[in-house]
Parts: sequence; C-alpha cells; structure tokens
Amino acid sequence: MQTLSDLLVESNIFANREMLSPHYVPKRLIGRQKEINQIERAIAPALKGERGRNVFIYGLTGVGKTSCVRYVVDEVKNIPNTRAKITYVNCRIYSSRYKVLNKIISEHLPTYAKRGYGAVDLYEKLTNWIEEDSKILVIVLDEIDVIKDLDDLVYTLTRINSDIRAGGVAMVGISNKVSFKDSLDPRSISSLYESEIVFSNYNANELFEILKDRVSKGFRQGAVDDEVLRFIAATSAKSGGDARLSLKTLSKAGELSDENNEPKVTLERTREAVKLSEGDIVYDVVATLPEHQRLVLYSIALLTQAGGSYKKLTDGPDTYLFSGEIYSRYKSIAENLHKDPKGERWYRKYLYELSMQGLILTFESGKGIRGHTKLIKLLYPAEKIRDCIEKDVFGYPETSQVPN
Ligand SMILES: Nc1ncnc2c1ncn2[C@@H]1O[C@H](COP(=O)(O)OP(=O)(O)OP(=O)(O)O)[C@@H](O)[C@H]1O
Ligand SMILES: [Mg+2]
Repeated sequence: MQTLSDLLVESNIFANREMLSPHYVPKRLIGRQKEINQIERAIAPALKGERGRNVFIYGLTGVGKTSCVRYVVDEVKNIPNTRAKITYVNCRIYSSRYKVLNKIISEHLPTYAKRGYGAVDLYEKLTNWIEEDSKILVIVLDEIDVIKDLDDLVYTLTRINSDIRAGGVAMVGISNKVSFKDSLDPRSISSLYESEIVFSNYNANELFEILKDRVSKGFRQGAVDDEVLRFIAATSAKSGGDARLSLKTLSKAGELSDENNEPKVTLERTREAVKLSEGDIVYDVVATLPEHQRLVLYSIALLTQAGGSYKKLTDGPDTYLFSGEIYSRYKSIAENLHKDPKGERWYRKYLYELSMQGLILTFESGKGIRGHTKLIKLLYPAEKIRDCIEKDVFGYPETSQVPN
C-alpha cells in the first residue's frame, strides 16, 4: 500500500499532474480553430451593438464544445469598453429559469442578487440594466437540456427583446443530447435554433494531437512514447471520438506506471488503463441519463446477461436483443417501480439516444429473423452497466423489487 510519503516522492512519469486534471481548461485548443471562428462569428454582432442570431451548438460528449465556448467567452470578457456583455451558465448547476436569471444578475449586478427577489423583480432589473446604455447581453447556456422549465426560460429571454427599447439579448445553447429538442415547444425550437454549429467527433489523428500536446505539458520528457498515444487515440476514436475519455486514459496509464515505479508508460499499462477508464465513463454517462432511458438501458443489461431470445434462436455466440423483448422488459420494470412506462415512440427515441451515446448498437435484422426487426447489442459489459445502475443510481432498496 502507498503511504503519504510515497505519494510525495517525485514522480518518474508526471511533470505537472494538474495538466491532466479534468478541471484543467486548456488555453490552446488543438484543431478546433474552425469551430472557434464559427462561435466568434456568431457573437460578433453583439460587439457591434447588434443582437445577431441565437445559436445552438451540438456535438457528442467530449468533443470540445465547452472548452471552445469558454475560450470565446474569455476573449469577449477581455475586450475593454464594450457594451457586449457575456454570461456563461452551467445549467447543471443553474437548472431552472429562476436560477439562470439569478446567475446572470449576480454576475452583472452583484449587490442586487443577494436580496432574494422574485423572478418578476429580477426580470425588471435585468431589462432596465440592458436598456440603460443599449447593452447586448449574450447568455451561454451550457448543457441546456438539463433546465427543467426551458420553454419558460426561452420565452422569458426572447421576450426581453420585445420589451426593451434599446439593446438586446442573444442566446447560445449547448447540448450533447440529440432528441431533447423534441420535448420543446415549437416556438422555443425556432428561437433557439436560429443558427446551428455542429461539432463532429474527433478522429484518431485529432485525438493523437490533443494527447501529444498534453503530454508535452504534463509528463516528463521521454515518459510517453507516440506508440502509446496512437493506441489511446485509436481506441477512443472507435468509441465515440471523445477527448475527455482519451485524456482520462492517458492520465490513468501514467498513474499505473507511477504506482509500479516504472520509468515509462508501457503499452501493457495503457491497455489496463483503457479498461479502467471505460468503466468510469460508463458510470458518468449512465449517471446523467434521464430516468426512463436508464431503465431501458437497465433492461438491455439484464437481458444481455440472461442471453436474450436471439441467442436462443440462433445458438450463436452473439447476444443481440430484439427491440420488442427489451420494450416488454422495460415496461415491467417501470411498472414494478411504480413509474408510468413511456409509449413506443419514446422508447424508439431512447434507443436512438443510447446508440448516439455509444452505449448500444442498433441495426435492422434483415429478412429471415422474425420478418424485419430491430436488433440491439450492448457495447459495454452488462455486468458493469447493471452494477452502476443498481449501486449508484437507484440505490439498492428499489431494485430489490425488480424481477430478474
Ligand atoms: N481541441 C482540444 N484541445 C485540447 N483539449 C481538448 C480539446 N477538445 C477537448 N479537450 C479536452 O477534453 C475535455 C472535454 O472537452 P469539453 O468539456 O470541451 O467537451 P464537451 O464537448 O463540452 O463535452 P460534454 O458534451 O460532455 O459537455 C476537456 O477537459 C478538454 O481539456
Ligand atoms: Mg461540455
């Protein structure tokens, strides 16, 4: 076991561990100049005193949306004497209309925010402040899908523009959830999606460059060979092109080598690290899934463990599941937990979301197997998925009621 004094001994591997922390915000973003420029162009009208168009930024997890937007937010904040004001809101923390309004006020009118006013007062204060010298306020809503009363928030922010005589408000929404849009009021959709920027997944080369840059900042010279980086980049590119996952794996490989007093990160340690960080990522992804989507995933994990009827039909090694059997299992689990099961239209959406998150693979069966049906395959170990849903997400007591 390691003692504290062991941990204080200089590392063979790391030069600056901070650089690998998930909280580290890179000052230079590798290979995202085009996207940064797109965001800058979207915000440029504000700098000229015009409202411009609202923007929606979409891309899967770990593709640099938050990093690029924060980069531009800092740029705007550093411009002196401008009437363009910008507020970055992490909606995971500020998850309702009231909290968002309060956050904006607390950033720009801090003394007012402390007084516990209601939403109407905050609204008045905000509109007066914008109007007084024709400010353009850009509100960045990161992870916007988490906001509970998003239609109300969009309505309120949009209304400011018709309520004021000078100045304006522009929104920048960010999300990694594809179909959250479907739950919104059509008016909110047309406001939020006045223009759109899509971040594509990183390919292996881009991930390699990101890793390489981080190695030069955070590792000792010669501690990590390119071969190791290529391996991590290729693995992460296959599972969704997520830079966060790549960096996590790299950091873990470094820690494993360090713990074993090795002078360099080997491929063997890197393989171990890939396995470990996949587990963490599964947990992170599962923890943020909406409740019913999680139950669908849980049903898939249970059926995968049990074998599924496809396996029984074909006697093959693969555990593909029929869409229908998953839906009936999901329904019975939901009922057992006294939750109203969602209809099939929602169910199809959930499958789509799960596949976009890289948790499952879905494909059409082709002719022969029960006519034409959708087949589903779980892409992570069923045990791991089941474990993290049971342990950390529902808590044991509820699942003890779930039939196996
Ligand atoms: N182009 C890049 N150059 C350097 N580091 C990057 C780059 N893109 C992403 N990263 C790193 O990857 C991590 C994840 O990026 P970021 O948080 O911006 O992703 P995201 O698209 O906002 O993901 P999510 O949808 O999960 O919020 C960050 O910690 C950042 O350090
Ligand atoms: Mg983000």
